[in-house]
Amino acid sequence: MSTISIKTPEEIEGMRLAGRLASEVLDYITPFVKNGVTTGELDRLCHEYMVNVQGTVPAPLNYCPPGYTPYPKAICTSVNDVICHGIPGDKVLKNGDVVNLDITVIKDGYHGDNSRMFFIGEPSILARRLSEVTYECMWLGISKVRPGAHLGDIGHVIQQHAEKNGYSVVREFCGHGIGKVFHEEPQVLHYGRPGTLEKLEAGMIFTIEPMINAGRRDIREMGDGWTIKTKDRSLSAQWEHTILVTETGYEVLTQSAGTPPPPAIINAPAQAVAA
Ligand code: MF3
Ligand code: CO
Ligand code: CO
Repeated sequence: MSTISIKTPEEIEGMRLAGRLASEVLDYITPFVKNGVTTGELDRLCHEYMVNVQGTVPAPLNYCPPGYTPYPKAICTSVNDVICHGIPGDKVLKNGDVVNLDITVIKDGYHGDNSRMFFIGEPSILARRLSEVTYECMWLGISKVRPGAHLGDIGHVIQQHAEKNGYSVVREFCGHGIGKVFHEEPQVLHYGRPGTLEKLEAGMIFTIEPMINAGRRDIREMGDGWTIKTKDRSLSAQWEHTILVTETGYEVLTQSAGTPPPPAIINAPAQAVAA
C-alpha cells in the first residue's frame, strides 16, 4: 500500500504559488552570481528578497532533521566539488567556479523547492558538459512522470544517461515528496530499474534533483555537519524541480519567467537515418 499523499486541488494551488516563488528567487539572484561575490552575500540577498519582497519563509533556516544540527542559513550554495548542502559564508566566487543555488521557500505553509547551476565567468569544458548532462538527467526523469509510471522509471533513465556520459550518480541523497512538509514520502532515487518501486498517481508532488559527479560517486561529509563533497574532489552538479503528477503527465511547479527551457533531448524528433 502506498503512503504517498495525494494533494487536494486547494493544496495543489498552494504548491503552484510556492513553486513559482521559489523559482523567482533564482531569477532574482541570477545577476548577482558573478566574480567576487561571496556565498554569504548571495544568502543575505535571497533571504531579504524572500522575507521583504515575497513574504515567504526560507525553509532551510534552522531546519533540523534527526541527527543534524540546525541549518544556519536561508539557502544552500554548493561550489565545485561540493555536492549539496553547502553553507553560505566568506567564500568568494571566482572565474571558473560552478555553483548550485538551492532555494526552498514556504508560502502559506506550502514548500517550493528548486535549484539551478551557475557559472562564474567562462566554465571549463568539463564543468559545462557536466552541468548540461545533469540538466538532461533531471529532464529525462521529469519526462517519465505520468499516472501508472513507477518511481524506478525515473531513477533508471537518470542513471543511464549519467553513466553513459562517464559520470556517476550520488546515492546518499534523493528527491522527495513535498507539500506542507519539506521532506516527505516518497524517496525519489536517481538510480534504479524500470517498473520497480511505487506507482505514480495524479496529485502526487515530489522533487527530482539528481546530483551527478564527474568522477566517482563516493561522498565525504565536512565537519560542519552539513556540507557534502565528492570524495575524489571531482566536480559535482545538481538541478532540481518540484513536479506535480497530472492526469496526463506532469506539471513543473517551480516555474517562472527565468526558468531555463527543457533541453533539446526532450521531445526531440527521432533522428532521421541517413540514406
Ligand atoms: N533543498 C534541499 C533539497 O533539495 C534541502 C536542503 S536542507 C538544508 O531537498 F537544510 F540544507 F537546507
Ligand atoms: Co529537494
Ligand atoms: Co532543494
